[in-house]
Amino acid sequence: MAALSYAEGMGNDEPICFAMEPYKVRVVEPLRWTTRDEREAALRKARFNLYALDADDVLIDLLTDSGTCAVSRDQMAAMMQGDESYAGSASFRRMEQTIRELFGYEFVLPTHQGRAAERLLIAALAPAGSLVPSNTLFDTTRANCVDHGVEPIDFPCAEFWDFDAVTPFKGNTDLASLEALLRGPEAARVPFVLVTITSNVCADLPVSMANLRATSELAHRCGKPLYLDACRFAQNAWYIQRFEPGYRDHSIAAIVREIFSLADGCIVSAKKDAMAQIGGFLALRNEEAARAARQRLVLAEGFLTYGGITGRDMEAIATGLREGIDEAHLSCRMETTAYLHDRLCEHGIPVLSPAGGHAVYLRADQMLPHLSLDEVPGHALAVELYREGGIRSTRMALAPQSGPFAGKRLEMTRLAIPNRVYTRRHLDYAVACLARIGQRAGTVTGMRLVRQPALLGGFMAEYEPAGVPVLA
Ligand code: F0G
Repeated sequence: MAALSYAEGMGNDEPICFAMEPYKVRVVEPLRWTTRDEREAALRKARFNLYALDADDVLIDLLTDSGTCAVSRDQMAAMMQGDESYAGSASFRRMEQTIRELFGYEFVLPTHQGRAAERLLIAALAPAGSLVPSNTLFDTTRANCVDHGVEPIDFPCAEFWDFDAVTPFKGNTDLASLEALLRGPEAARVPFVLVTITSNVCADLPVSMANLRATSELAHRCGKPLYLDACRFAQNAWYIQRFEPGYRDHSIAAIVREIFSLADGCIVSAKKDAMAQIGGFLALRNEEAARAARQRLVLAEGFLTYGGITGRDMEAIATGLREGIDEAHLSCRMETTAYLHDRLCEHGIPVLSPAGGHAVYLRADQMLPHLSLDEVPGHALAVELYREGGIRSTRMALAPQSGPFAGKRLEMTRLAIPNRVYTRRHLDYAVACLARIGQRAGTVTGMRLVRQPALLGGFMAEYEPAGVPVLA
């Protein structure tokens, strides 16, 4: 499949852009190699759940970009100034001021991570029995909805399923379906619209400014606020800058400001584009909404000016937010992911195109066509990649319950790249392992789900190789 080269997003008159790492490395951590027998034993001990592996048994950890980034010198320096006061922390003020400046929202509620912000938003503003429409919700947001008796309803755009279409904005919301809901008999059940940028379950692809604007206008015409799940907001802004007509000369900061001007607030896991190791926030335009959420904040997370994290964490977020929208940083990040994507394409490994921002998504169903969906190809490939080379990845699946693709299920394996941690040589190693698996793909065993909890099952599921029971 044709890969979308990010260089195509640049005009010919620009200087050669060599998106090398815009930093040098001063602190390193050794990698630990394991033998195939050790990995096989580790898999069995973990009941074939890669989240249950000891990190020491992982050579290259592509499980997630969440909280796994390398800290910068400036973040470390800021953390030394963490104000750990219970109330009125100066670190909170710095974080609050940064968020106000970058996003334009007055009311900032710190949380211990993204899912806590989700919980505050949903518990405060979505009564039980309501319906929350979105482009797609990430697993934790969906689970928080369900846990509060709220029904999440996804409207991913049809282009996502056109796997040959080389357009990045496959995270868009299907506006016709959203409009039918907001103007239909169920409209009164909708407290707000929630759009995820970028759409993690749609291969981390972005939402265009045009689609966001249309969603915002539609929601507001129907009297509904629009909120953003915006943990990868900088990546989304980068796609807009490179690929949406009219934005090539806009700075990332200006695009970020425009994105958030279209919404009434956001929930953010600061563990992704804000490059913190823990933390998140809910930021709102409306004081009444903020008041409702604040009650929950004090009840569940902590006082208003620390929300379950330390002053040091808030300093890391305030600095990380600015580093996350730095153009050199973003170019390097996005082109590193594209590099992995392009090398995999060269080896004939089926991937979703174009590359996501934080991750490349393998088409596990295409790579392992001999497996049925019941044999969970996305997970079977992740297990095989660990077995082959000690690389940890994770299964992602998209299974819309509504719209033209209801009933379909796309099985993917995500290779997520932690910020500023691995070099392209580490990624070359991942490509080599996958190429080797590709050559003997027909021998890869399927997985059988043994048990999983009702909510957020993927994190805690237990499996066994399909057809070869090994667990008691
Ligand atoms: N929203 C999106 C789009 C996410 O990807 C995540 C987390 C969250 C919300 C929740 O944030 O972890 O801080 O509570 N994604 C991680 C991942 C777990 O691996 O993609 P959190």
